[in-house]
Amino acid sequence: MAWFKKNLLLSLFSLLLFSHSLCAALKSATFVLPVKKDGATLQYVTRVQQRTPPTLLNLVVDLGARYLWVDCDKGYVSSTYGSVYCGTAECNLTASQGCTDCSLPRRPGCDKNTCSVGIEGPTVGTGGVLAQDALSIASTNGTVPGPSATIPKFVFSCAPSFLLKGLARGAKGMLGLGRGNLGLPLQLASAFPVSAKFAVCLSSTTTSNGVMFFGDGPYEISSGVDASARFKYTPLFVNPVSTAGSYIAGEESVEYFIGVRSVKVNGTAVPLKKSLLSIDEEGHGGTKISTTAPYTQLQTSIYTAVTGAFATAMGSTTRVAPVGKLKLCYDAKDVGARYTGPAVPTIDLVLQDESVYWSILGANSMVEAKKGVLCLAFVDGGINPTTSIVIGGHQIEDNLLQFDIANSRLGFTSSLWIVKTTCASYNFQSLP
Ligand SMILES: *[C@@H]1O[C@H](CO)[C@@H](O)[C@H](O)[C@H]1NC(C)=O
Ligand SMILES: *[C@@H]1O[C@H](CO)[C@@H](O)[C@H](O)[C@H]1NC(C)=O
Ligand SMILES: *[C@@H]1O[C@H](CO)[C@@H](O)[C@H](O)[C@H]1NC(C)=O
Repeated sequence: MAWFKKNLLLSLFSLLLFSHSLCAALKSATFVLPVKKDGATLQYVTRVQQRTPPTLLNLVVDLGARYLWVDCDKGYVSSTYGSVYCGTAECNLTASQGCTDCSLPRRPGCDKNTCSVGIEGPTVGTGGVLAQDALSIASTNGTVPGPSATIPKFVFSCAPSFLLKGLARGAKGMLGLGRGNLGLPLQLASAFPVSAKFAVCLSSTTTSNGVMFFGDGPYEISSGVDASARFKYTPLFVNPVSTAGSYIAGEESVEYFIGVRSVKVNGTAVPLKKSLLSIDEEGHGGTKISTTAPYTQLQTSIYTAVTGAFATAMGSTTRVAPVGKLKLCYDAKDVGARYTGPAVPTIDLVLQDESVYWSILGANSMVEAKKGVLCLAFVDGGINPTTSIVIGGHQIEDNLLQFDIANSRLGFTSSLWIVKTTCASYNFQSLP
């Protein structure tokens, strides 16, 4: 019983610390997490503290996933771990409410009558079970990190070790930021006075942290620059049909969809089949944002139209051989430089009306795929993908995006290079 009392005291203490220093001072709180690009996989990796005693975990950020999942087979030690059983309120928060009986000795991830869910890794999906444990996250006043707060029973999913295959080295699972009840944003909003919104600023370098904020701004990306002042807004849409690898009938997607109406290259709209741009009754089509796709994926006909227009606008710039999936490549010596990246035609995603568009400038449209070779960082998503346009990591780096679940809208800044800042400028000070 002694360990239990100690842990209870500890979590009470951290709650008190939190309420004293933050809730008393502010009507609402904001939390902050670092996020760093992994050069080998091009995944974005964050760090959270879970369990008792607290264990620092590297998790790959999955913007469109339902849960946080971790490997429970190896090295899971915690005095505050708890199973989530079938028929409980927590289990009812998931769409799938199947039950799993594990016949092996009881341990994290193995128990009788637990709530089973589908989970997805970078290469495969599988069945897992829901569980709960303490999760701590640092608060912020918008400028610098402050005291941490703990959710004593954060609901997550336990996965078998093989699901780690294909994750960045050292990662122990993935952090789901989907708009469902069990995503981190809504679990934080139900545990603390935090708005149901979060902002993501991915750094383009593999050496410095970018930043994610949970709750309201200011979002002071670099000293004195509240990047949220630059937001333009566009509605977020709910896809009525789940886009997950496995789901049950009637389950909505937890991903973040926006309404791209047209795509312009160097100011001229590219001819596109408009039906691909909206979500049909089967949940196909439309545009979503992803942190697990390294480059934007375009349905084949869109890809052909956009790359064709881009190649035309590049004029006589020297083409060189494709690099892997990146087909449109140029000799870097032949491409000029601007403070917003390589001097190439701008690609605009036109949103709800002509005056609201997301400009993709050189730093976000081009990638140095190998030394001296600059490629258009868009890939062919295939003839019949579930989603027609998947805006990928390279296109959102050094942009601040706010996913406002409460108000169903996306705030976006386009490139922060315009204001001579990057997502690596947030002052994390002494981060654990
Ligand atoms: C969860 O849902 C089941 C089936 O709808 C119901 O019987 C049960 O009472 C619910 N549990 C809670 C705690 O709400
Ligand atoms: C946050 O706290 C730091 C250090 O106490 C202070 O310098 C900064 O001005 C504060 N920022 C805001 C937005 O209050
Ligand atoms: C890009 O647009 C500008 C302004 O409309 C135009 O002057 C220029 O010729 C265009 N470039 C190409 C290669 O089409």
